[in-house]
Amino acid sequence: MSASSIHLFSGAPSGVDLELRDAEFLFISHVIAENAGIVLGPSKRQLVQGRLARRLRELGVPSFAAYCDMLRDSGPEELVALINALTTNVTAFFREIHHFEAMAEWMLPEALARNARTRRIRIWSAGCSSGEEPYSIAMTVAENLPQGEKWDLKILATDIDSNVLASASQGLYPVDRLSGISDGRRQRWLVKGAGRNVGWAKVRDDVRAMVTFKPLNLMGEWPMRGGFDIIFCRNVMIYFDQPTRDKLVHRYSTLLPEGGCLCVGHSESIHAGTAPVRLVSRTIYRKT
Ligand SMILES: C[S@@+](CC[C@H](N)C(=O)[O-])C[C@H]1O[C@@H](n2cnc3c(N)ncnc32)[C@H](O)[C@@H]1O
Repeated sequence: MSASSIHLFSGAPSGVDLELRDAEFLFISHVIAENAGIVLGPSKRQLVQGRLARRLRELGVPSFAAYCDMLRDSGPEELVALINALTTNVTAFFREIHHFEAMAEWMLPEALARNARTRRIRIWSAGCSSGEEPYSIAMTVAENLPQGEKWDLKILATDIDSNVLASASQGLYPVDRLSGISDGRRQRWLVKGAGRNVGWAKVRDDVRAMVTFKPLNLMGEWPMRGGFDIIFCRNVMIYFDQPTRDKLVHRYSTLLPEGGCLCVGHSESIHAGTAPVRLVSRTIYRKT
């Protein structure tokens, strides 16, 4: 077996050839980079073959060559499926908990003080995956809004992957995905399933109501008119190349007021001079 041709299913039916060749891998990498900004280096070849082999079988397409032809010829429908198959959606409730601690301690209090007149707070979870991140934001905000005050607070949660968004808006999770949530929070913000739903928990309606899920490709147009007080874009930019990250950070900075914050993932950092932001805490940048 050569490095450039991996046979995944030796037992594939005759006439079916699920071998991803160089030209096909290059074509698929190009399509995903052009349309989603996601860079698939050579080390991702096996992952691409594994994930797309499933798709080929679903479609009854006999080879990657035929699948590439289909991508060339079909409209955006197959492109959506391709993107859904190739995004990585790993996430967890209260992942990188220091961001939520910082939000309770100073990011949210600062935003409340800045917006005391308008009483309006907007937070964006960009690349929200299956919803754990925006719901963790919502729980933190609900715990820390001043009692008895009325605030117009909205959390926008967006992702390119239509599959994860569909499950995110339901707010329904198997209990083994809740390990990041303390017992106190589970009792306060989640409803345990009973009967047929044993083993599942649902985010309470008042928390779900704080979050609006929308499909959005970060590489495309952003339809939002207003700005955001806090933006989370965590563990998303790692999939992009440096110029794309720089451009994205610059776009985020244009949506933040002076003093607003951008939270990025643990392995992400922003190059000095990319945008008018300054590192003020662990992976938290403030618009200057
Ligand atoms: C690893 S998950 C991170 C989830 C969450 N932010 C966290 O840190 O737990 C990355 C998410 O980014 C999304 N994504 C990748 N490329 C995107 C793009 N061009 N536009 C919008 N979302 C994108 C993926 O679909 C995926 O759900």
